Amino acid sequence: MITFINADNQGWAGFDNFRDKEFDWIVADPPYGINAHKGNNKNLRVAIERGELHGGSWDGAVPNDQYFEDIKRVSKAQLVWGGNYFKQLPVFQPKLKRIKEFSDFQKGTKEGCLVWDKGESMYNRAFNEAELAWISTGEQCWFKKMLNQRERWHPTQKPVWLYRYIYKFIVGKGKTVLDTHGGSFTSAIAAEMEGINLVIYERDPIYFELSLKKFKKHFRQFVLF
Ligand SMILES: C[S@@+](CC[C@H](N)C(=O)[O-])C[C@H]1O[C@@H](n2cnc3c(N)ncnc32)[C@H](O)[C@@H]1O
Repeated sequence: MITFINADNQGWAGFDNFRDKEFDWIVADPPYGINAHKGNNKNLRVAIERGELHGGSWDGAVPNDQYFEDIKRVSKAQLVWGGNYFKQLPVFQPKLKRIKEFSDFQKGTKEGCLVWDKGESMYNRAFNEAELAWISTGEQCWFKKMLNQRERWHPTQKPVWLYRYIYKFIVGKGKTVLDTHGGSFTSAIAAEMEGINLVIYERDPIYFELSLKKFKKHFRQFVLF
């Protein structure tokens, strides 16, 4: 079952409603605080200016210390995308950019990290060539697959296959998960496919509506074909 919540995960609608260790996992993708929404990524800026993507302030509100305390209180295990950008996490390494830097860092740490290597299409561009998620339970994995830009309705959308991989091989079928930063809801599509009970937040009403529509459309197509 998927529960969609259009609210801020901090404050009255958020963590205070959850018991200690209520969730098996937190799988979260918070804003990294690199202000991508202000246009330091040219492709995103152009897409937002053309009206192909909604702007909003999705990358501005970096989670505070309380957020990191809360996610540890309400869940037994955590996976946090952009783990290298958060000083509260043991994999804090904000300068990682190139594949080799991610690889050297992973080899040298005992911390759990999933690296998503976005493939050759990203080499020598302004973007990071990979993204890193911290995993509290210590698994280390490297996953290489290209980024498909065509079916995108959120600026920082992660692919469904990436979330399916996480739910199938790291979290496990039947588990209860809280995703605090839903964005495109590709996480919800993957959860539905992998038999995960998910509670998912998104505070931006425009993204909430759009992503919910995409979620419903995805499963309508699934049933028809
Ligand atoms: C990095 S994006 C998530 C992208 C998502 N993983 C995907 O694949 O589409 C972060 C999202 O969290 C939302 N957000 C930011 N702060 C939030 C908060 N305090 N509560 C709920 N949602 C929040 C933003 O509007 C944005 O859509």
